[in-house]
Amino acid sequence: MKCVMANDHGAIELAKKLKAHLEERGIEVNYLGTDKNESVDYPDKAVECAKEYLKGGYDFSIVLCGTGIGISIAANKIKGIRCALVMDSYSAEMSKRHNNANMLSFGGRVEYKEDPVKILDAYIDATFEGGRHQKRIDKITALENNQ
Ligand code: RB5
Repeated sequence: MKCVMANDHGAIELAKKLKAHLEERGIEVNYLGTDKNESVDYPDKAVECAKEYLKGGYDFSIVLCGTGIGISIAANKIKGIRCALVMDSYSAEMSKRHNNANMLSFGGRVEYKEDPVKILDAYIDATFEGGRHQKRIDKITALENNQ
């Protein structure tokens, strides 16, 4: 498996932690940073990550900012991206099973009730169910195409 990830200055430590975990799982990570404390704008990192993901060859993508909110809002403006702001294992699992999310968003300053590593694993280990859920995703795609 292969993933691309990017973050702003608000989530450097969590990004490093998730990256290390992915690599431990044998998942290749294309890490786009930032790994520097200087402020960067989360919409720029969202676009960078989304555009790289959409080139193809990736199984999923991850974005992070202080809350996970701003970067997920920005990423979801990009056609083809279904970014899920996940708060626990349940939402992460369902984001794959029902929404076939191709991007997850985490917040580096959020106090998660569960270890974010566990939340990430719940997404990776789940499978999209298709069927009626595909029909609903097709409606999201139609919205992107202004239909
Ligand atoms: C940056 O200070 C912060 O606003 C950003 O990381 C994020 O939390 C926005 O949603």
